[in-house]
Amino acid sequence: MNRLVLLCVSGEAATSPAGDLRPHLPALPVKETGWLRPVSLTVLKLGNVLHGSATHPGEAHELKFRDPPLCITFLYYLCGVKIQNQMGKINCIGILTSGGDAPGMNAAIRAVTRAGIASGLKVKGIYRGYEGLINNEIKDFTTENVSNIIQRGGTILKTARSKEFMTPEGRKKAYDNMVEQGIDALIVIGGNGSLAGARIFAEEFDVPCIGLPGTIDNDLNGTDSTIGYDTTLNTIVECADKIRDTATSHERIFFIEVMGRDAGFLAQNSAIASGAEAAIIPEDSTNADQLEQFISRGIRKSKSSSMVIVSESPKCGAMYYADRVKNEYPEFDVRVSILGHLQRGGSPSASDRILASRLGVGAINALQEGQRNVMIGIRNDEVVYVPFCNAIKSDKPIKKELINVLGILSI
Ligand code: F6P
Repeated sequence: MNRLVLLCVSGEAATSPAGDLRPHLPALPVKETGWLRPVSLTVLKLGNVLHGSATHPGEAHELKFRDPPLCITFLYYLCGVKIQNQMGKINCIGILTSGGDAPGMNAAIRAVTRAGIASGLKVKGIYRGYEGLINNEIKDFTTENVSNIIQRGGTILKTARSKEFMTPEGRKKAYDNMVEQGIDALIVIGGNGSLAGARIFAEEFDVPCIGLPGTIDNDLNGTDSTIGYDTTLNTIVECADKIRDTATSHERIFFIEVMGRDAGFLAQNSAIASGAEAAIIPEDSTNADQLEQFISRGIRKSKSSSMVIVSESPKCGAMYYADRVKNEYPEFDVRVSILGHLQRGGSPSASDRILASRLGVGAINALQEGQRNVMIGIRNDEVVYVPFCNAIKSDKPIKKELINVLGILSI
């Protein structure tokens, strides 16, 4: 018997207790379909035919409909229009890197290219992120194109933050080029904004997209670490160790500003690893109190220097805190060091290379399993598929335990 199974990859699979599709299925031109991409959003747009209910990625569901006749209409729509698209074999993939570069992006490009070729796929490199898709800067990739790059920082594909891709017109151009180039699926390596772009694009044009978390900020949900985070953490610690020498020699307080956009992972963990006296992070809404606490605890007599790692912020960056201390406690000799873009470059650490390699192979596996619109992550050492909508929620928590560890060890 024919059977239609909805594989929930978006976390938005639709089910309803009323109306069962099964009696109607034999009449439908649907073969054993196996894995089908999530249809719930389309369904909901079609007139709330189904209930939307969150489920876990990777679960298979029989579709149950509130209104079987409506449902049949929908299914014919699916069979006639969508299924060919979705079930059509993927022969060619396009890879792009987007947003801020991150060490390990090259390792990811290499892994996706080689795993794709090993699976019989044609691979195309798209230059300058979505901008290159809009401007048709696309080149066939062979295994040689990705030789000797695993150790290199930056991205051989270049990257951009495309304003045009934020417009429907820009995305339409990108889609037209994809079709013209024969690209059936897109692998996007980037951070929050890049995966948000992939999500919209995938929904608008029904294009299979797989994301890889590529950002130094580590602010994507569903993965323990993002590509580039570990390398940047090590870079910051190396800098902080050097700054400590000067801080100690001159008996100064240093405010060191690090990147992270709206996330404090880099600041918090580099503070622990460099033995800093405090970290000021956006996740802790009591930033001002943190500074007060640090000051009122006083610099221990035996301590000849202090370092405070501050997460970047347009209003309350390292300069802000340094000025406050200078004004309120003129007895302290205060300096600021903003590490800036030296945090993003450099050869990726072994951890980032391994992470990127695993995620790249995972992306090809996911595509072949019929996954769509998911970010590949690693959680508890297992490759996981995280629906875009979950990955890009900007609420990845920083463990309270890390804050406690720093507090205890900096006495
Ligand atoms: O997202 C990565 C990141 O390095 C952030 O930490 C930082 O806020 C931002 O990019 C800087 O971007 P740009 O290189 O465009 O100035």
